[in-house]
Formats: sequence, structure tokens, C-alpha cells
Amino acid sequence: MRTLIISRDSLLHAEIAAQGSARLPALQLTGSRQGLRDAVDRVLHEAPELVIFDASDVEPREAELVDRLARHYPDASFILLTREPQQELLIRAMRAGMREVLPLPLVHRAFHEAMDRIEIEAGITRTRDGKVLAFIACKGGSGATFLSTNLGHALAALGEKKTLLIDLHGQFGDAALYVSDQKPAMTLSDVCSQIERMDGAFLESCLVHVAPNYGILPAADDPNHTVEMKPEHIETILRVARQHFDYILLDVGRQIDAISLRALDTADAIYPVLQLALPDIRDGRRLLDIFRSLGYPSERTRLIVNRYEKGGKLRLGDLEQALGAPVLHTIPNDYIAATDSVNQGVPVLETARHSAIARSLSELVEMLTDCRVPESKGLLGRLFGRNSEGGLQ
Ligand SMILES: Nc1ncnc2c1ncn2[C@@H]1O[C@H](COP(=O)(O)OP(=O)(O)OP(=O)(O)O)[C@@H](O)[C@H]1O
Ligand SMILES: [Mg+2]
Repeated sequence: MRTLIISRDSLLHAEIAAQGSARLPALQLTGSRQGLRDAVDRVLHEAPELVIFDASDVEPREAELVDRLARHYPDASFILLTREPQQELLIRAMRAGMREVLPLPLVHRAFHEAMDRIEIEAGITRTRDGKVLAFIACKGGSGATFLSTNLGHALAALGEKKTLLIDLHGQFGDAALYVSDQKPAMTLSDVCSQIERMDGAFLESCLVHVAPNYGILPAADDPNHTVEMKPEHIETILRVARQHFDYILLDVGRQIDAISLRALDTADAIYPVLQLALPDIRDGRRLLDIFRSLGYPSERTRLIVNRYEKGGKLRLGDLEQALGAPVLHTIPNDYIAATDSVNQGVPVLETARHSAIARSLSELVEMLTDCRVPESKGLLGRLFGRNSEGGLQ
């Protein structure tokens, strides 16, 4: 947003510039004026879309200039900053259509909330109503991390959905490394320790970006438990995430604790991931019993069978009967495609785009997004088409 700042306070100017540059999209500071008189006398040629106006040192006799300022930029949104309430000025500002008033010193969270409202009103961003989908391995090594991290990439690349994956593994969480070689700057425990800063821009700044519309919040890395992570923290993170992402995938890991439990409570769907083998089925049944005892509605739980091979002694029907839950999808067994992708830290859609796993992921994207493409090839074709033009990003 093209932004004009009106303030004599250079520190405040720098503070707003720093906060504005952390937003997505970043604020473009296209002008600055030293006070109201200067702003009215020197009108910008290209009208700003946003005026941030520090009214702390406006003299009573200058108050009428507020109307002139508003008339110069009739299409702009205004944020008024005041050090102490100046009633007359506020009334004038309100009459002139300035809706956002923030006290100084600037509270960053309040500033970003005001910016969110302005951007939504201006149609720059829309609040999303993201779906939270939880993936939980019935047994260690079932493939929940491989599946969820690659599905996140597929939702973003094929389904064009803005997607977030939160790694909830209590220990040794390494979901980001399955699809990226970036070293995480922030982890879930860091975010919890600064939860009062939580908003869309802060969340975005904490992610490992696998693609422009796919980010991962890495697992807590706090072996000495110096940060007290509370269930309310994950609730706050998910509330904000729902507003800014279409899909929020949770890689729950195997350990159910207070944090992952609160996340599961709020999830729209839970996908236990398991292989078609007796030990997995035994553990799967225990897991589903826990969900039942927690009162989770059964229609929220759908099984995903990983490393599926047709023709085995156990059939999908046997599994559904044993667990009393339907199978949503199967992912074929493909050791080479999966291992190559994991070893390189590159999504399987990029390392093995013609593999059966890639095709299966594309079908899952279609199913989850309800995107009606005549053939499952359609979505993959989109990806491949783009790749041939110079790669996916
Ligand atoms: N469809 C598949 N075909 C072949 N190999 C697979 C498939 N899915 C996953 N794998 C392999 O299985 C291994 C374990 O997967 P992953 O780490 O995702 O399991 P997990 O359920 O997250 O385990 P944990 O309980 O440790 O969190 C991975 O190294 C991956 O290469
Ligand atoms: Mg895992």
C-alpha cells in the first residue's frame, strides 16, 4: 500500500517503517511530511492509499487542517496516532472519515490489527477461513511426516492453496527438512514465547518457506523446557492461521500431549496414517479408542493407508472393519521415490513427478479441495506445464 507518514518524530517514523516492511505485502512508504501543516501545503502527486498521521503535536488552531488533509486524499485510509486523547481533534478526524485511532507509544499488535482491517476493507487481503487437518502416525514410521509435508506442497503447488504445516512433534521434529534445506530461524517454542506478538505478519515471518504459498512452522526445539508452552498458545496460533491460510496441516507425531490434544480438539479432520499391517492396526485401534473417549465425532476421522500394495493378505475392508472408520485414501509404496525425496529434502512432486506417489498426492489434493478436474492428470499437468516453463516456485 502506498503510504504517507506525517510525523515530526523520526524514531516513530523508523518504527512504523520497520513494522510496515514486515507485513505481507509490505507497506510502501512513498512520502513523509513534518506535521499537519507541511502535509497540507505539500500535497503528494500520487495520492497515498494509506495516511499514518501522528497527531500528538497538532495545535488546537491547526485542527481545521484535518478536514483539508482528508479532502486532499479522499480515497485513502487513515490511521491517527495520538499521545493523549485530544477530543476536538478526534471528533473532527472521525467526521472526516478517519476510522482508526491508536495511542502512542505504538503497540505493534494494535497497529497490525488496524492494518489488517484496512487491508481487508481495501480488498488487498481477504480473511480466509482455513481448514485444520491433523495427520497422526498410528505407529512410528508410518509416514505421517512424509505425507503431510508433501501434501502441504501439493496443496500449494497443484491446488494453489495458501498452506501452512505446523510440526507438533514434541521431540526430534524435523518436518521442514523433508521438503527444504533451510535452517529454521524460529520454532514453535519461540513463537509460544512471544505469543503476544502473534498476527499474520509475525506468523509468516517465523516460517520456513518451501514455496511462496507454503510455509512450515518447525517443531519446538527446547529440550530444557525453558519456554512454558500452553494449550492456549496453540489455540491462538491456529486462530490466526485460519485467518491467513487456506489449509493448516498438523504433523502431530506420535506423542499426544496437552498441546497436540488442544490442536486435535480444534481440527476439522483427523487422518490417522498407517500401513496395512497388524501392528499398525493394533495401534490404530488404540488411537481411535482415545478419540472416541475424547468424544470426537466419528465422521471427523478418516484413515490414510500409506505404503499400500494391492494383493496383500489384509484388505482395506478388513482394516475398515477392525477400526470402525473408513479409509479416505491410499498412498502407494514407492521406496525409491520416497527415499530420494527425503534424502534431498525436496518435495516428491519435484524429485519424482511421474511417480505413483505424486499421482496419489494429486488425487488427494483434488479430494480435499473438492477441485473438480476431469482427470487427475489435470492438476499434475498444471504443475508439469509450469515446470517446463522454468520450474515451480
Ligand atoms: N509411500 C511410501 N513409500 C515408501 N516409503 C515411504 C512412503 N512414505 C514414507 N516412506 C518412508 O518412510 C520413512 C518414515 O516416514 P516418516 O518419517 O514420514 O514417518 P512418521 O510416521 O512421521 O514417523 P515418526 O513416528 O518417526 O514421526 C521415510 O523415511 C520415508 O522415506
Ligand atoms: Mg514424523
